[in-house]
Amino acid sequence: MAKVTFLPSGVTCEVVVSDYPYGDHGRPGSLLDIAIRYGVDLAHNCGGVCACTTCHVVVKSGTEHLSEMEEDEEDRLDRAEGLTLQSRLACQAVVEGTGEVVVQVMTTRAQAGGH
Ligand code: FES
Repeated sequence: MAKVTFLPSGVTCEVVVSDYPYGDHGRPGSLLDIAIRYGVDLAHNCGGVCACTTCHVVVKSGTEHLSEMEEDEEDRLDRAEGLTLQSRLACQAVVEGTGEVVVQVMTTRAQAGGH
């Protein structure tokens, strides 16, 4: 089991890899997939297909429990506002195995204008 905490809400989700996917937004087991399952307010204007930057999150800890960044995520992320070295796209970063991950949500659905 892995634990994912989303800030600023502080919602902690317990996830099991064998339960993936939870829904149909983002890669199975991605931070977005998990956030939607647990009702965390995280913008995802393109529906989780790596075509916007609204699902930008900053990883506070546990980055070693996330999938490696692939080229299309890296290219897309370059355009994100407030980019940091710990930035990821929630729809692309998959929680792998066990451990604890803490991420900061950068944009809520209301801030992103919908969805
Ligand atoms: S939801 Fe659009 S890039 Fe992640």
